[in-house]
Amino acid sequence: MFITNDIKYIGVNDHELDLFEGQYVVENGMAYNSYVIMDEKIAVFDTVDANFTEEWLGNLAGALAGRQPDYLIVQHMEPDHSSNIRVFMEQYGGARIVSSAKAFKMMANFYGTEFDDRKVVIKEGDVLNLGKHELHFIAAPMVHWPEVMMTYDAADKVLFSADGFGKFGALDVEEDDWACEARRYYFGIVGKFGGQVQKVLEKAAGLDIQIICPLHGPVLSEDLGYYLDLYNTWSSYGVESEGIMIAYTSVYGNTKKAVELLADKLREKGCENVVVNDLARDDMAEVVEDAFRYGTIVLATTTYNGEIFPFMREFIDHLTERNFQNRFIGLIENGSWAPMAAKTMKEKLEGCRNLTFANTTVRIHSALNDESRQQIDDLAAELVKGPAEPEPEVKSSKGFVCTICGYVYEGDVLPEGFTCPLCRQPADVFEPVE
Ligand code: FEO
Repeated sequence: MFITNDIKYIGVNDHELDLFEGQYVVENGMAYNSYVIMDEKIAVFDTVDANFTEEWLGNLAGALAGRQPDYLIVQHMEPDHSSNIRVFMEQYGGARIVSSAKAFKMMANFYGTEFDDRKVVIKEGDVLNLGKHELHFIAAPMVHWPEVMMTYDAADKVLFSADGFGKFGALDVEEDDWACEARRYYFGIVGKFGGQVQKVLEKAAGLDIQIICPLHGPVLSEDLGYYLDLYNTWSSYGVESEGIMIAYTSVYGNTKKAVELLADKLREKGCENVVVNDLARDDMAEVVEDAFRYGTIVLATTTYNGEIFPFMREFIDHLTERNFQNRFIGLIENGSWAPMAAKTMKEKLEGCRNLTFANTTVRIHSALNDESRQQIDDLAAELVKGPAEPEPEVKSSKGFVCTICGYVYEGDVLPEGFTCPLCRQPADVFEPVE
């Protein structure tokens, strides 16, 4: 595939994959993208999944047309992109491998070698000259792993964005709506690391970008503002679409009836877009992306073993581990003898920033009755009206943020010997909170 006169696509499509990264259903398959820049020196960008070695080598040989590559640029070490590093290095004995220091450590762990005598270690701000094309390296830690580097080609104004701007879906399947599978991919894969994505977007804002070449999904070359705006909304945990999303579980159908009644009431009261998801039957990753897409979310579940129904517990875990925040929340609980679900859901969401809970909580004792129907009507009215103006958040100006995973330590100074409790990185990767 032609991208510019000098840049060629040599990636592959995977239609055999059952679950991407062991958990995401990919009905339209998956693309593992790889690129070549043909210049005085030749650079290859990333390899592909282990199941496509021969096809990828064939694509590469076709693009090279008899020439030899000089560099393999490894932007990301996750095996869907790194699995053919060794075979490439064996086949092209004159090539050197260009990557971040962290990536070389991972290479040793995954493949038993850092290619010491053929490695070029690069960091943020370094430049590799191919002739006409100058490659500028941009650190993008945690988008999606800590070693990730993106690359900007100043000649053709191309950003090679690693997993950034990627999506589920093979390139030989036509999809009208890029955002649908890009959103599910984004919140599934890097949703937790909004702060790191924001940092990369700040760096990208200083570049003249005409084309984005991600490691998954289509090459983006038109209306780039649309994609950049969406990434800005997603990574700042903003509200993308008008509407109310209800996520529920139901054992015998009574909680489902309550949800259906709430959806009807919401529509009656003027909410034009009510999205209802059954956590036991709908794709969990789709529901997670909806929770980050809409500003008002209703959680409805059953008290179960003194806690909540397992699918709801899993769903809330998905939200909290992805830094869920900035939302208006309504709760519906069902419990035949000791309803605990609303209290449990609220407790599980306690660590999330800037959540506002509706004053009305719907409590169902087994099945709907006049009282719970009235509560549903009250909740619908509250949700349609929206949250009261929040008290201005008093922010502590003291603290340090981990530049790798986003963990914030609150305090005047970092304790001696401090390591990040989330990603285990040392104190020197922390920056003062601005
Ligand atoms: Fe596409 Fe993070 O690997």
